[in-house]
Amino acid sequence: MKGIILAGGSGTRLSPSTLSINKHLIPVYDKPMIYYPLSVLMLGGIKEVLIISTPHDVSRFKDLLGNGESLGISISYLSQEDPNGIPEALVIGEHFIGKDDVTLMLGDNIFYGQGFTTLFRKAIKNHEHATIFGYRVKDPERFGVAEFNERKKVVSLEEKPDDPKSDFAVTGLYIYDHHAVEIAKHLEPSERGELEITDLNKEYLKMNKLNVELLGRGFAWMDAGTHESLFEASEFVKNIQQRQGFKLACLEEISYYMGYINKDDLIDMGNSMAKNDYGRYLLDIANRKHIEQYWDDLVGHPMLEVMSHE
Ligand code: G1P
Repeated sequence: MKGIILAGGSGTRLSPSTLSINKHLIPVYDKPMIYYPLSVLMLGGIKEVLIISTPHDVSRFKDLLGNGESLGISISYLSQEDPNGIPEALVIGEHFIGKDDVTLMLGDNIFYGQGFTTLFRKAIKNHEHATIFGYRVKDPERFGVAEFNERKKVVSLEEKPDDPKSDFAVTGLYIYDHHAVEIAKHLEPSERGELEITDLNKEYLKMNKLNVELLGRGFAWMDAGTHESLFEASEFVKNIQQRQGFKLACLEEISYYMGYINKDDLIDMGNSMAKNDYGRYLLDIANRKHIEQYWDDLVGHPMLEVMSHE
């Protein structure tokens, strides 16, 4: 399974903050936005990640994350010349995907909740053709909307409908087989002049190859694409972190618990930021005793198999 994060776009809804910085580099509380989708891919066990951004911004992401080696994963980069829509990421990533399956994730989507990792990993394991994730929202007209029957089979999909057929938004997390690339190549732009991911999902639906996983009310799903939603997401992260003392989307921590880096690596990274809370947190993790007590809260399920390096 490969992973792609789409972190392009002009971020106009966050202007003027985005006049000189890519939206996905703006912090959501105490870390750049892109840490959140990257943490999801890492928790899913995906180790090969492609980040797609604008030609101008790719170098900034490289400055931040490099080739991924320090996190024990591989990160490569490609650019999207113009904001032509989400499915174009699959076309841009054609060679990266090859004959593998791919998880495509939007760079401003944040997922949180006990059991999320388990659910995502199961979805990856059981995945056949295309899998989307539905989440109940009070303003479905802002999103792709999935209607499904009592057996949880999708019966219709619509992009930002005026009159939504359900309250279930399609989140910005998608799992596809490699045929998605060819399908994406044949899509036509919508009225807003973009290729629509909903149109790609509709093709899978037509072939009866679309599976939906529903995220229940115990999960939080947020996009951070407007000032309001960015602020709310930051507050959410701050509140959970301050209450529990655990950080959300701390990539170094995930990497450590996944067994990709060792304690010395973590200490080195902690020391390089020891003057701030983030660095001290890394040092704190490195010094934790009885870390099995932390598994559940950290990643949503006991990660016995990945703890073998301890
Ligand atoms: C995009 C998709 C939409 C999806 C949403 C999730 O919307 O087109 O189907 O529900 O991401 O964040 P956009 O960000 O382009 O408004």
